[in-house]
Amino acid sequence: MDEHTDLVLDGAPRITAEAKTCAELLEGGRRLVVLTGAGMSQESGLPTFRDALTGLWSTFDPEDLATEAAFRRDPARVFGWYVSRWRQMRDAKPHAGHFAIVRLAERFDRVDVVTQNIDGLHRRAGSEHVSELHGNLAAFRCLDAGHPFEGSLLDGLAGAADGSVQPPRCNVCDSPIRPGVVWFGEPLPEDAVREGWEAVETCDALLIVGTSAVVYPAAELPAIALRRRCAVIEINPDVTPYSARATWSWRARAGTALPRLADCLRQDE
Ligand code: OAD
Repeated sequence: MDEHTDLVLDGAPRITAEAKTCAELLEGGRRLVVLTGAGMSQESGLPTFRDALTGLWSTFDPEDLATEAAFRRDPARVFGWYVSRWRQMRDAKPHAGHFAIVRLAERFDRVDVVTQNIDGLHRRAGSEHVSELHGNLAAFRCLDAGHPFEGSLLDGLAGAADGSVQPPRCNVCDSPIRPGVVWFGEPLPEDAVREGWEAVETCDALLIVGTSAVVYPAAELPAIALRRRCAVIEINPDVTPYSARATWSWRARAGTALPRLADCLRQDE
């Protein structure tokens, strides 16, 4: 049993008081947006960015790894870091929370997932409408012209003992291959931004899961939903800048809270 109170409803599956409150807030809504961040993938074994001890940015400086300037300065170091993250993501599996979001689609006319994650786990779980605001690491392409590059070709590449990997060159234009992520200082993918913003402008409710909500423009989305007076529900074990403003802030992990919410909504059917 976790830290939350369990209610037993007539022998039906156990749900928590928090799940019930969230389900009530979502009741009657037709369009739901789920905004996710690195905490969504934490239970799939992928590290977050800002957790004090385990977050990627507690060990690495983004200026050294997540900018075009860093890649041009030391391509093998930067590429090697992304190749090792790509392998980690490829081996990771979606967890019960990812699948619960897919189940939520049974109760709404439309569920849009707007994610800052680059790991592809929402799509792998089966979510249909996914906008990847920060790109997708596996969508390798060349630096200068954006020609796509098949990630599986990286499997044969040997890395140095320090983890650095010389990026291969594009077979069309010979420019070096880079990961499909958005680096600091780069624009976000236009389609993902258009879809994500449209979804939040037209939704009835927003679920914010596993993001510290400090990186813009993604962090603007909860403010838009609040301004529209949508129900805004946050699922996060820690406090964020939106915790006090959300309609309901549920201190829980994604892999616990989301399945309970999906079960609870199903019971209401
Ligand atoms: P952060 O690392 O900033 O925040 C992760 C959030 O997830 C924190 O608020 C944690 O409390 C929460 N969390 C941890 N474990 C959780 C769990 N099991 N269930 C639910 N929540 C959990 O990650 P993001 O908000 O995604 O950008 O960071 C945003 C952006 O900053 C990233 O996309 C990345 C980074 O720099 C780029 O690389 C462009």
